[in-house]
Amino acid sequence: MIIVNTIKELQTELTSHRQDGKRIGFVPTMGNLHQGHLSLVEVAKRHSDIVVVSLFVNPTQFGPNEDFDSYPRTLDADCDKLKNQGTDIVFAPATDEVYPKWPNITSVHVAKLGKNHCGASRPGHFDGVTTVVSKLFNMVRPDCAVFGEKDFQQISIIRRMVSDLNFPLDIIGAPIVREANGLAMSSRNGYLSTEEKDHASNIYKTLLWAKSEIENGRHDFRQLETEAKQRLTELGFVPDYFNIANQETLALAQEQDSQLVILLAAFMGKVRLIDNIKIK
Ligand code: PAF
Repeated sequence: MIIVNTIKELQTELTSHRQDGKRIGFVPTMGNLHQGHLSLVEVAKRHSDIVVVSLFVNPTQFGPNEDFDSYPRTLDADCDKLKNQGTDIVFAPATDEVYPKWPNITSVHVAKLGKNHCGASRPGHFDGVTTVVSKLFNMVRPDCAVFGEKDFQQISIIRRMVSDLNFPLDIIGAPIVREANGLAMSSRNGYLSTEEKDHASNIYKTLLWAKSEIENGRHDFRQLETEAKQRLTELGFVPDYFNIANQETLALAQEQDSQLVILLAAFMGKVRLIDNIKIK
């Protein structure tokens, strides 16, 4: 495994692999890697010959009162994990390598899909994501890129951006990886104590409850959302949103919609956790 910090080094390395006819797979991350990220690398390995993983905490996707400064930077531990997982190239650029002219005055905005859910409570977040992902795609020029379905809204937006802007690559979604108790793996779980992690599994249990209500025939989606938020509040969470949405458009689901996804974000203390579950 080689570690590169500049775009030039990255491209020199990748040019020779491309000349050898190798397919390049890409996993963009912000580091602080856990089993969920490593599962993305596994998926990338199945779809490509050379796997590139980026480690970059992207400032433009954090709001002014969010955890950009305190976001864990764990480069050495991340590289050890990636090496064991069979990664070929780690791209760990400094901020001024990605944003040489600061502040960035060009951004990529995907309308509609980024409006609700996390987009409503984190204004500008998805513009930061789509902008950095576009930049990373242009730097790596991969044949395919893998994103986790835990960030369901993020992967939906990226799929649409790739289609609308003709990025020449395939987007592959990888299933959510959960702890044994059901809690979706996330770098932000690192902010929780063992007891808090146990309690946080109630988020997934609430999703499962709502899913079974729908599968048993409930279509009063707005009422169900209210009840689910009440459950979460009684369990000590502060729900940010609990939305039953159309899987394709991400608009709030209507009775006739058949492919659904329940998306939620809830605070446990200061930690904001997100999760989702799909329903056919
Ligand atoms: O999902 C993430 O970790 C980030 O949003 C991403 C895609 C690496 C962009 O910074």
